[in-house]
Amino acid sequence: MDFFDELSEVIARDGARRGVRATPEVWSDFTGRIVPVKNAAAPVGKSASMEITGAAGRADAVNTVSAAAAVATAPEIVPAAPSAPAVKELPGDWESLRAAALVCRNCHLCASRRNVVFGEGSCNARLMFIGEGPGADEDATGRPFVGAAGQLLDKMIAAMHLAREEVYIANIVKCRPPGNRMPGEDEAAACIGFLEKQIELVKPEVIVLLGGTALHFLLHIDGITRARGRWQEYKNIAVMPTFHPAFLLRKPDAKREAWHDLKLVMNKLGIPI
Ligand code: URA
Repeated sequence: MDFFDELSEVIARDGARRGVRATPEVWSDFTGRIVPVKNAAAPVGKSASMEITGAAGRADAVNTVSAAAAVATAPEIVPAAPSAPAVKELPGDWESLRAAALVCRNCHLCASRRNVVFGEGSCNARLMFIGEGPGADEDATGRPFVGAAGQLLDKMIAAMHLAREEVYIANIVKCRPPGNRMPGEDEAAACIGFLEKQIELVKPEVIVLLGGTALHFLLHIDGITRARGRWQEYKNIAVMPTFHPAFLLRKPDAKREAWHDLKLVMNKLGIPI
């Protein structure tokens, strides 16, 4: 099922609740695309309720994506020597920046990581997605967003008429917080310089912040539910906060809002909807 199939289910459910039939016209009115509604009468599973703000929550599932060729080997475990690299002290070229990240021991997450998840995508991307931090699948492969949430992110990117290779994908922290907890302030502070440098190098036209944690650590704004769908700015770059795909997996009805946000991004980038 692609993002639109899932979205059409959401719209059908929404319509059923309000006594409105989710016709193709209703659907295309919302999405701006003429696509017939499938399974409008399909039974609907109950989505688990969850907290919207704070940690995105993870949906670590069996990873179906093979490991990238250049996965870092796990470093020896040593106690962290906390000293956050200031962005100006970090190398300004991709190769050296990646090399610095792969051996980073600036916070305690280095002790439990299997791989540093540096980020990937086009270095000239017009659009950058920023998530929270690696989960189990990402830690195992060294690649961002390859688990269940990543598969939904792929669908969201495809729904925007883009390929994953055309965008750049990174996280607030490059190492997995144990148990998929939210990164701590100290961990984010130790790592954010890498992300700032990545943004500086990619120079995207638009950044999409995935979830409340990315919003908190990049823009110091709390509350994704309130902030989503409204343009923000980071160093003259337009920023759109939206729901984290892991949240969307748990609360599929929120895909409707997420798609609204992504359409704003498409509009900003001049991508026809
Ligand atoms: N969740 C994130 O925030 N980032 C990933 O890379 C994977 C899951």
